[in-house]
Amino acid sequence: MAEKKLPFTKEQLESIIQEYPTPLHIYDEQAIRANARRLLAAFSWAPKFKEYFAVKATPNPHILSLLREEGIGADCSSLAELVLAEKSGITGENIMFTSNDTPFEEYQKARELGAIINLDDITQIAYLEKHAGLPDLISFRYNPGPLRGGNSIIGNPEEAKYGLTREQIVEGYRILRDKGVKRFGIHTMVISNELNPAYFIETANMMFDLIIEIHQELGIRIEMVNFGGGIGIPYRPEQEAVDLELIGNGVQAAYEAKIVANGLAPLTLALECGRVITGPYGYLVTRVLHKKEIYKNYIGVDASMANLMRPGMYGAYHHITVVDKEHEPLSHVYDVSGGLCENNDKFAINRKLPKIDIDDLLVIHDAGAHGHAMGFNYNGKLRSAEVLLRPDGSAKLIRRAETLEDLFGTLDFNSL
Ligand SMILES: Cc1ncc(COP(=O)(O)O)c(C=O)c1O
Repeated sequence: MAEKKLPFTKEQLESIIQEYPTPLHIYDEQAIRANARRLLAAFSWAPKFKEYFAVKATPNPHILSLLREEGIGADCSSLAELVLAEKSGITGENIMFTSNDTPFEEYQKARELGAIINLDDITQIAYLEKHAGLPDLISFRYNPGPLRGGNSIIGNPEEAKYGLTREQIVEGYRILRDKGVKRFGIHTMVISNELNPAYFIETANMMFDLIIEIHQELGIRIEMVNFGGGIGIPYRPEQEAVDLELIGNGVQAAYEAKIVANGLAPLTLALECGRVITGPYGYLVTRVLHKKEIYKNYIGVDASMANLMRPGMYGAYHHITVVDKEHEPLSHVYDVSGGLCENNDKFAINRKLPKIDIDDLLVIHDAGAHGHAMGFNYNGKLRSAEVLLRPDGSAKLIRRAETLEDLFGTLDFNSL
């Protein structure tokens, strides 16, 4: 069972809100650090193991910096993410650049930073060479297509636009080898928000087999394999957190049976998880503005889908705690809605909650990854602030709330 507890008291929360009004995102630094250490410990057996945090999950330099202090790098997929990594002190091979439909300026920036470039298509070899030159170390993203089922969230790899086919990837390494490239990586990402550890062990086995085959076919040794992200989190209280140690141990057994046994060790292993690193440790705090009783009972809050898109977009469950009513009976059934002119702007539908009153504070859990990051400005909604709850209980503003001036910053009213 996943415990849905809050890392702050009501008094602490109220004093934070006095300074930084709702809606706002709060991240629990201590829990993020502890969790990062847990993931690294699960792979401490693996030579030079690296986690590249998926910047897209929580693109805030304060979060990236604290992860850097824990030894975590950055998985970037755009120019902005590369710059964020750089500003956070993450450079060189501590960055892995996995993009698709990539403009050449982004490859140039990745080269400037010395990032590991992960190509999404065989045509990108020539494109990269033309615009940025070929680095010493190049990786390819593998799409197993019909050779592997995805999971229900990411879908079928054959339908996915990413990566190279089995035939292309061998051809790609052959081209690179013949062009004099000396160092090779390989990457895949076939699973998203998956709670079953067996999927990750299966992915490791698939990649180890491929690395052996590439060695046999081309005589090249791949030095780094990145299994992607996709480790899930228990959004629902009845779900269990993924046992990271179990994944680590399963991958270790496969590594020994395949990589070590075939004389291909040491092979650097990498992950690029986002959600499992910060997801459970971010909270969207919102205040109840209105109650409405029509065919259903609505609780209208000051946050909207613009602050957290997952419930509206995927129908995803996010647990809600009504502050100071944690122990009251779940006696009412509500839809909790935001103010967008979209009927799917709901954080919860038919949710059993304690009786809610106007001005109550609601905390929406598991908003620490793909939360604020997916925010948008539809209906002129302003992006909310982000606050880091420090281990000493203090609160640090790590992104101020947007203002109308920010929103209108690209408009010139004087030219009307
Ligand atoms: C290429 C790539 N890597 C890593 C991630 C991070 O996934 P997660 O946050 O589920 O671990 C994503 C998610 O979209 C992705 O597209």
